[in-house]
Amino acid sequence: MCGIVGYVGREQAAPILLDGLSKLEYRGYDSAGVAVYSEKTGEMAVYKAKGRLKVLSDLIEGGAMVDGTVGIGHTRWATHGAPSDVNSHPQVSRSGRIAVVHNGIIENYAELKSFLMDQGVPFTSETDTEVVAQLIEYFCEQDQVDILEAVGRCLRRIEGAYALGILCADAPDQLIAVRKDSPLILGYGEGCSFLASDVTAIIRHTRSVSYMDDGEVAVLTREGIQCYNHLMQPIEKEICHVDWEIDAAEKGGYEHFMFKEIMEQPEAMRRCISPRIRDGEVFLENFPLSDDYIRNISKLYIVACGSSYHVGMVGKYNLERMIRKSVEVALASEFRYMNPIVDERTLVVVISQSGETLDTMAALREARRLGAKILSIVNVVGSSIARESDVVLYTWAGPEIAVATTKAYSTQMAALNLLGLYFARRLGTMDLAEYRRVLEEMLLLPEKMEAILSSKDDIQYFASQYFNHSSVFFIGRNVDYALGLEGSLKLKEISYIHSEAYASGELKHGTISLIEDGTLVVALGTYRKLFEKAMSNVVEVKARGADVLALTTESHREEMAKTANAVMTIPETHDLLLPSLGVVPLQLFAYYVALMRGCDIDKPRNLAKSVTVE
Ligand code: G6P
Repeated sequence: MCGIVGYVGREQAAPILLDGLSKLEYRGYDSAGVAVYSEKTGEMAVYKAKGRLKVLSDLIEGGAMVDGTVGIGHTRWATHGAPSDVNSHPQVSRSGRIAVVHNGIIENYAELKSFLMDQGVPFTSETDTEVVAQLIEYFCEQDQVDILEAVGRCLRRIEGAYALGILCADAPDQLIAVRKDSPLILGYGEGCSFLASDVTAIIRHTRSVSYMDDGEVAVLTREGIQCYNHLMQPIEKEICHVDWEIDAAEKGGYEHFMFKEIMEQPEAMRRCISPRIRDGEVFLENFPLSDDYIRNISKLYIVACGSSYHVGMVGKYNLERMIRKSVEVALASEFRYMNPIVDERTLVVVISQSGETLDTMAALREARRLGAKILSIVNVVGSSIARESDVVLYTWAGPEIAVATTKAYSTQMAALNLLGLYFARRLGTMDLAEYRRVLEEMLLLPEKMEAILSSKDDIQYFASQYFNHSSVFFIGRNVDYALGLEGSLKLKEISYIHSEAYASGELKHGTISLIEDGTLVVALGTYRKLFEKAMSNVVEVKARGADVLALTTESHREEMAKTANAVMTIPETHDLLLPSLGVVPLQLFAYYVALMRGCDIDKPRNLAKSVTVE
């Protein structure tokens, strides 16, 4: 949500900023803007436009009409004040000498705004961000301090979550960056420096980055970057090398990032799984939890949002079966306000692709406050959640750009299964032969996924049959229910079709009254042990007129086809791994349905990749 990019160097800044912003589009936004300081005029030019980045880019001719080698840019996701040109960022101070881009929310902005208005400061926007620009200028003028000191004073007054990029026309050789509870990274180039919400925005220019921590301030110049802690004492930051390839964040010939990322899943799974299985054992490098600690765990508590939460739902079924300890799953947004029963013997497993979801981060901190250890399963290396966890299992899925997650979901599930198996081995809760069989099957998942992907045309055909339904129900039991939650979310988020997932046994407690002639039901029946029950539910909804698109394993295709209207299949695998394969046809189905409905697949309306506000 919202994207920040900043550049100070020797090249024209505007095209660099526009390019960086284009890489951040996936985060979700409704308007965009840039501010660039021109050495020729001694002035700062600010351009902002509601709508897609292209509107802004056309306005400034791809950056060609904006002179200057230092600037900041932003893609805004409206929170305070509707999407509009005036509410877009950068927000500038009264004199037009200070420009600010901001991700997050200034919680006490109303109070600060009325204080400034009482001092005669006029406001032009409805945003909380304008308060920051005005307050910095107020301190510069009132207290006669330089911009850095004024920023420091401002930080002592504002409350909330923020990443800030600040440009001041009176100190035009530098940018100031600030971070609290919203990600910001610094990029080190030859004769230039960058700031950005994430690496994709600047990887074209540099692979040397550092991750700002909460409370830190950075001053970026052409010569380098100086960081300060919250007391404004100079500090040294570790510089990390980003080792993924630029084209990992490009479409590479595919029409959509989502499709590319679906197709990349076998490779992502290989990267996540192969290094972690050695000689028939789960191998977790530098894993700090001792066997004693693991034995002493009273329960696991999985917290996450969105699709990551759905991974947690599968995890509850799988891990309880593997480790015979209680596993609770909570939505991170609920966990933080539910007074959860968590103590030193609880291991809290935090799942997050981005590692920046605000509710998940808040849940992590609440769990820590209650004394739990935190193990996170995260995709983005160096993200806030990763850095605040005791143990991190990276998913190594590579950058995921499409808002609707696919390869991150699959690899999160693989990582969670590996964790369960690792624990099970230490706890002696799984038969050794079965443990080995699961590991062997895990290693086969990538090629089985490839087989599913190679029959994508069949799924496209089913999508062409059902894309015009206005309401869909996903039903299943056990892991098929958990899988249905994800299948349903995928479909609704990108195709805008109303869709719900139900535990099949619950149908008769309400939902079945909604089934009528032609209602589409996606019936999931991959879980062998409950296949007969899945069949009964198919018969039940068919009898009420539903069209049934079923998903089952190859060996059950024939039986399912006797009743269902259409059947998608996955190869056989161990029960614990069925959702890992089952999700692929559901992703493809959602993708093709959205494609046929002409939806904006990579950037669905109102959704953001990384939700950094509550
Ligand atoms: C957003 C994304 C979802 C994602 C959820 C949690 O809603 O659109 O795809 O599952 O956030 O994100 P996280 O990065 O914490 O996994």
